[in-house]
Amino acid sequence: SVKKVGVLIGSLRKESFSRKIAKAVIALAPESLSFEIIEIGGVSFFNQDLEATPPADWLTFREKIKASDAILFVTPEYNRSMPGVLKNAIDVASRPYGHNAFNGKPAGIVSTSIGAIGGFGSNHHLRQSLTFLNMAQLAQPEMYVGNSAQVVGEDGEVANDASKDYLAGFGAAFAAWVHKTA
Ligand code: FNR
Repeated sequence: SVKKVGVLIGSLRKESFSRKIAKAVIALAPESLSFEIIEIGGVSFFNQDLEATPPADWLTFREKIKASDAILFVTPEYNRSMPGVLKNAIDVASRPYGHNAFNGKPAGIVSTSIGAIGGFGSNHHLRQSLTFLNMAQLAQPEMYVGNSAQVVGEDGEVANDASKDYLAGFGAAFAAWVHKTA
């Protein structure tokens, strides 16, 4: 059966390379997965004072995570870590205590950078939080997409066959992982 993957993108930028890479991964992935990008830009800042009367956007966001069989994270690196907007969304869906929406779901992690290191710091800071949140993370292949501006063009087209194979190979491994663990 087809498994539903919720996709979280760690950049709100309109022309985000991470978003374009996420769309390329989706386009190249096996048909045994269906994808929905879950937008995080409208998720209000987490504030523990609001937990008793949560904003409607928190509830909608948590429901979308819960309705997903698996989560794919595609994120840039900001200051050697994940962007605050992604951490905020994770914090919101991890609560209230004992009701972590991510609990037990398989996860795929793709980090991106316009530089050569490919978001290693972001990738592993994200993995630290996801480990605590009891997500079953695909370990291999690791996906550090460096030189992101060369991997996807303005139009979102993947620049060359080697990059296409790299993204497609990840999608295939992720699909196998999701079907094994979800
Ligand atoms: C960056 N960038 C960046 N790149 C990197 O490889 N390591 C880093 O630590 C950072 N830090 C960082 C901080 C902030 C605040 C910004 C705005 C940018 C550069 C980053 O790779 C580049 O802006 C990407 O284009 C961001 O990804 P999207 O928006 O294209 O998906």
